[in-house]
Amino acid sequence: MTRKLDEPDAEMTRAVASFYERHPFPGERQPDADGLLLMRRVASMIADARHEAGPRRLRLLDAGCGTGNTSVALARTFPALDVQGMDICGRSLDLARAAAQDAGLENVAFAQGDLLAGPLPAGRWDIIVCLGVVHHTANMERALGHLAQALAPDGRMMLWVYGRHGRYHHQLNRRLLALLLKDETDPTRQVELAREFALDTGDGEPLSDLYGFVPGRHEREQVVLNDAWIADQFLHTNERAVDLPEFLGMIKAVGLVMHEWLGEDTSGTRLPPALAARLDRLPEQERLCALDLLLKPRRYFVEARRKGGWPS
Ligand SMILES: C[S@@+](CC[C@H](N)C(=O)[O-])C[C@H]1O[C@@H](n2cnc3c(N)ncnc32)[C@H](O)[C@@H]1O
Repeated sequence: MTRKLDEPDAEMTRAVASFYERHPFPGERQPDADGLLLMRRVASMIADARHEAGPRRLRLLDAGCGTGNTSVALARTFPALDVQGMDICGRSLDLARAAAQDAGLENVAFAQGDLLAGPLPAGRWDIIVCLGVVHHTANMERALGHLAQALAPDGRMMLWVYGRHGRYHHQLNRRLLALLLKDETDPTRQVELAREFALDTGDGEPLSDLYGFVPGRHEREQVVLNDAWIADQFLHTNERAVDLPEFLGMIKAVGLVMHEWLGEDTSGTRLPPALAARLDRLPEQERLCALDLLLKPRRYFVEARRKGGWPS
């Protein structure tokens, strides 16, 4: 049985929910490279499932679906899926339902729920997608636990969480901005000032710190246009970034293993050859730890399963 949420966690959860009521995410934002990667992964999961289990509809949960962009895109692209979006934020869900209705989709539904509140239906979903969510919850371990028990025995979970090493400079920028804005209570003005901070500090240094490179026109345009993104990156009430060993420990504690580390070149070929060869000789846990230090990811995008994963 799940314990009742401690009051500090409950208070943080209310603060996070009310943050998203002010800034429903992602709103108008276009899919990025990871969004496209997700689509390809889900396509191959559907093909595999067809191969393994014959023609049956797959159930997919988009946990923390926000304004439903991913849920709607998945339901539209894959009619063989039954997509369930859930989120704590009522305003985001209204936008998600409107988008699904506009698209005339019948294989997607949305429900309000708190990932921390209590168990989800056990073993229900073949695929769980949880993108950019657990690191904003008051208790990441608990959220992951609830997701893991809702996964079907041979189910697959796509997780996207902030990486501590890659977000280090960004975290410093967030702290700086929090100091500068500590007396600003108007949420609209906060967003305006955060946007100015991002675009006009130095030569857009906060954006370079965030992306790890000088962003191109597309990224800059997203920043200029999207209040939700500015708020989410620069003004969030609660975010926690992890490193890879910590993240793998968390998913292991809930009975999952990393099956695939997505969106990174994990070959180690960025190292000089003699060091790349040493990397390859390390025991798997240490090799992953070394890769994490080498790559300094801004996010971990991972497919997790119950068994047979990486490291073995
Ligand atoms: C950064 S947004 C990500 C939205 C979407 N997954 C995407 O990738 O565009 C985080 C979402 O998590 C939701 N969320 C945060 N805490 C939650 C909780 N305890 N239970 C359910 N949803 C939660 C927020 O309301 C918000 O919509």
